[in-house]
Amino acid sequence: MQTPAVDSVRIFDTTLRDGEQSPGASMNLEEKVQMAEVLAQLNVDVIECGFPASSEGDYAAVRAIADAVTGPTLAGLSRCRRDDIVRTELALRSARRSRAHIFLATSEIHRTYKLRMNRGEVLQCLREGLTLARDLFDEVEFSAEDAARTEPEFLAEAVYEAIEAGATVINIPDTVGYAVPYQFGSLIRYLKAKVPNIDKAVLSVHCHNDLGLAVANSLAAIEAGARQVECTINGIGERAGNCSLEELVMALKTRRDYYGLDTGINTQNLVYASTMLTRITGLAVPRNKAVVGLNAFAHEAGIHQHGVLMHPATYEIMRPEDVGRTGNRMVLGKHSGRHAFHYWMEERDIHCTEMQFEEAFNAFKRLCDQKKEPEEHELLAIVRDIVHTAAHTSPVLANYSLRGV
Ligand code: KIV
Ligand code: ZN
Repeated sequence: MQTPAVDSVRIFDTTLRDGEQSPGASMNLEEKVQMAEVLAQLNVDVIECGFPASSEGDYAAVRAIADAVTGPTLAGLSRCRRDDIVRTELALRSARRSRAHIFLATSEIHRTYKLRMNRGEVLQCLREGLTLARDLFDEVEFSAEDAARTEPEFLAEAVYEAIEAGATVINIPDTVGYAVPYQFGSLIRYLKAKVPNIDKAVLSVHCHNDLGLAVANSLAAIEAGARQVECTINGIGERAGNCSLEELVMALKTRRDYYGLDTGINTQNLVYASTMLTRITGLAVPRNKAVVGLNAFAHEAGIHQHGVLMHPATYEIMRPEDVGRTGNRMVLGKHSGRHAFHYWMEERDIHCTEMQFEEAFNAFKRLCDQKKEPEEHELLAIVRDIVHTAAHTSPVLANYSLRGV
């Protein structure tokens, strides 16, 4: 693993665990190994490979990833129970660097209705689990499940005990996506101020997207001092999903002027990772999804197209090649203007007189009134009918004419 420099944010990817838990996202063993390799190429710091005690299939997949994937630290999720912890250790035994990710709920509602434990019992349970784990793994992470709804003073006590027992990463999950950015950042500040041994651990966050705030909450936590973020490719995960890796990473990169923090992510691989996940799970990404959606760098409106043709930074805050997007960004549609149509023709080496251009442009606009997104062959047909001589100069058009489509 290439550990990023000190003031950087570690990326803990949980696509294969929290992501895979979401309906429609399940993957078989081979697919999980394939996706883990994609994540390693992306250079994430930690891959959460699965939850070995949850099923035989998950156990086998975690084992297979540990055998095959080098680079990132490999983590396995575990309840705070001896059996789970031992099973996770077995699954991760061949990992170059292993991490136990042990979770136990701390909020009153979970203590009362799910765990049926009082505060003292929760503290006792986490002490025992973490003490066992610290001798079995290279690293131990503790997650206070539903931390965002936990009484802050009890959360501080649990975090203190977890670090005393051997956790070197403390994760503060917003399990149900209830937090809002300023409040969540304040919780991280509170823990940094109140927990005496907090400097012995890296603070991490794990935000769910029920209110569409997972990325915003994670960024607020980073501003407050969190240095690990748990996220998933395309933001998949339980219910509305997790913090989207590509959005978080590109927010930090694009606004480095503001955050002053790096990640070790090879951002040019982001679109590839997103596409691979879609191919494997069948879960499509909306066209307008930030960073990796098909429209993220596409321009149809005439004024925008003109601006981007003059200088991409007029309407683009990221360079498409920085996220691995290649190809044409100009979409010809009813909002497009002459500049974009001219650019489309030039790209195909189609040259014509001014009059022919006007005629072709008007025909293109008429077509757009009938059809939202004209296809390449329809555009070529218009141009062929008007710009006869151009067929000789443009290989694209000549080829098209020869096929006689
Ligand atoms: O959402 C959550 O609280 C979790 C924990 C297991 C980290 O996924
Ligand atoms: Zn989660």
